[in-house]
Formats: sequence, C-alpha cells, structure tokens
Amino acid sequence: MLPLIDRHGRIATDLRVSLTDRCNLRCTYCMPPEGLEWMPDSQQLSDDEVVRLIGVAVQHLGVNEVRFTGGEPLVRRGLVDIVRRVRALDEDVEMSITTNALGLSRTAGALAEAGLDRVNVSLDTVRRDSFTTITRRDRLADVIAGLAAAEAAGLGPVKVNAVLLRGVNDDQAPELLGWCLERGYQLRFIEQMPLDAQHGWDRDLMVTADEIFASLATAYRLTPASEPRGSAPAELFTVDDGPAMVGVIASVTRPFCGDCDRVRLTADGQVRNCLFAREESDLRAALRGGADDADLATRWRTAMWGKAPGHGIDDPSFLQPDRPMSAIGG
Ligand code: GTP
Ligand code: 5AD
Ligand code: SF4
Repeated sequence: MLPLIDRHGRIATDLRVSLTDRCNLRCTYCMPPEGLEWMPDSQQLSDDEVVRLIGVAVQHLGVNEVRFTGGEPLVRRGLVDIVRRVRALDEDVEMSITTNALGLSRTAGALAEAGLDRVNVSLDTVRRDSFTTITRRDRLADVIAGLAAAEAAGLGPVKVNAVLLRGVNDDQAPELLGWCLERGYQLRFIEQMPLDAQHGWDRDLMVTADEIFASLATAYRLTPASEPRGSAPAELFTVDDGPAMVGVIASVTRPFCGDCDRVRLTADGQVRNCLFAREESDLRAALRGGADDADLATRWRTAMWGKAPGHGIDDPSFLQPDRPMSAIGG
C-alpha cells in the first residue's frame, strides 16, 4: 500500500475528520458570541460519504488512527452510526473523538458500544464563573457529567485539553491539574494558536509552555517523562512520584511539525495536509463526480505531497488560514 507521504518524508497515519463546523459553546478564543455562518447542509459530506472517505484512508492509504472533531462532533446526528460503520470497516483502527463533552453523559455508552476507543475533552477551568466567561455558556456541570460518563463507559484513558488565557484562567493551572489527578484524567495544556475566527490572536498575550510549566512547578514536582514524544504533540511530565502525568502541547514555541503524522478532512470533504495549510483538495467534488476508491486515494496522496515543512507562525510573512479552527477540527 502506498502511504500518505510528503516531500519531506513524513508519513500521515493519523486522520482527523471534522464532522461539523457547528458548536454549542462559544469559546472566546475560538468564535464570536453570535457564532459563525455555518456550512450549508448540502455542502457537508453525508454519513455515507464520510464513511466512504475514511474507508479509502484506512484501506488504501495506511491510516491507522481516526479522530472525529468539529466544531463539536457530538452535535453531528449520525455520529454513533458513523463510528459503528468505521469500526465495521476495520476492527483495529484506533478511533477517538475530541469533544467539549456537552451531551456526552447521554451518548458515551452508545459510542463505546459502537466501537469508539477514547475521548479527549476540552475543559479550560473547573470554576463555574471562569467557564461561563470563556465559553459564554453556563454549562460546566454538563461537561463534568460527560467526563464521568466517558470514563464509566470505558472511553478512557480520558484526556483533558486546556487552553490558558491571560488574565482569565492563567492562574488556575495547578488547580485544574489537582482536579484531573483526583479523577484520573490526563491533563494537557495547549498553547493557543492563531486559528480563531476573529483573528484576535496575539503572540504577546499567549500563555507559553514555559509559563505553564513554571506555574505548575509552584505546586508539583515535574520530571520529564522518559519516552520521547515522537509524533504526539504533548510533552509529558511525571507529576510528583507518578504514575500520573501532565502534558504541555507547545505548538507555537516548540513546534512538532517535523514529526507530524496528521492529515485532515473537513466537514465539506476537503483534504487539508496541515492545520495551517493554504490550499485544500476537493475530495467531495471527486467523490460526487463518480471517482472510484483508487482515484480518490491518488488525489489524496497528491494533496499530501506538497505539505509545508512547518506552520511558520513566527515567520514575518505568516498568514492565518482562511478557515478557523472550528471549521478545520482541532
Ligand atoms: P492523543 O492521541 O489523544 O494524544 O490526541 P491529540 O493530542 O493528537 O488530539 P487532540 O484532538 O486532543 O489535540 C490536542 C491539541 O493538540 C489540539 O487541540 C491542538 O491544539 C493540538 N493539535 C492537534 N493537532 C495539531 C496539529 O496538527 N498541529 C498543531 N500545531 N497542533 C495540533
Ligand atoms: N489554539 C489552540 N487550541 C485551540 N482549541 C480551540 N482553539 C484553539 C486555538 N486557537 C482547542 C480547544 C479544544 C481543541 C479542539 O482545540 O480548546 O481542546
Ligand atoms: Fe466549540 Fe471547541 Fe470552539 Fe469551544 S473551542 S467554541 S468547544 S469548537
């Protein structure tokens, strides 16, 4: 099988599929209070089309990990069915979702039963007032219930992703870690990237991985975990005497682009070879035009070949991609 290789020798085996650009939260670092102009249904891939393209990736291109993202993947009505059908295609593919966990308390059992392996949950604070400030919705209790349900359904080890915002929750890193440690969730802090719909990201305001580490070190003894991080975005540290670990995803200050093994499919069927890609490849048009699997696989390989060596956020010529994070998938 010819894999998804690029001109720099990287091979993509981790497919991230955005199932919708919609979301039921309005995180300030992601989208404006009124939301965005959502993708029309006719442009969105149908469930059949999503499963077909994932099948091409898994059966013809060597993809062995599939992660569903959004927007918020749980708002996609067909999610459980899509998971079931992908599992039927391949019993070994690792399948996960990255979600805000709203409504997960109702669907965790069905997702596990359909064949989902794991969930990663976005949670930036465990204080109700900060949560409401960041997400513009008073829904912290639902997220906490969703996390517990995921763990109970066997969708662990559950990982929690947190973004720190200066002046909002940047003093809460040790508190959030303590909360996750008590519950057995693996917490990872993420440096904020220039992917917000409002284009308001400011390098000087971003809370850096070094700051996060320093803040955690006021309350915990952190030792770099011995395994190399490889293509995983998180640098892991053992907390106190272990075995629990905390991660820092330093996408901006210590990019992991050189080891990247990711490829993305948007909800409207465009292949993006990078979060920050300036070009997309329209598999939806090819698919709706009658392309067979081999043809779709060839187009997908071609789309990957030109992947840029890095995101270039610190280059003077850097331009934020046209699509925001909510329409690409985290
Ligand atoms: P695990 O296999 O569970 O470790 O998944 P993951 O960490 O790859 O997935 P998740 O969706 O939880 O991603 C965590 C965060 O990593 C995202 O929210 C992004 O901020 C960041 N991230 C994911 N993919 C990329 C990428 O391709 N490039 C960069 N720069 N950051 C990424
Ligand atoms: N930079 C980094 N992470 C982001 N997320 C959303 N927007 C950004 C950004 N600009 C995170 C969410 C969630 C995941 C899908 O991406 O908090 O954990
Ligand atoms: Fe929704 Fe995620 Fe954006 Fe928050 S960061 S508004 S949960 S898509």
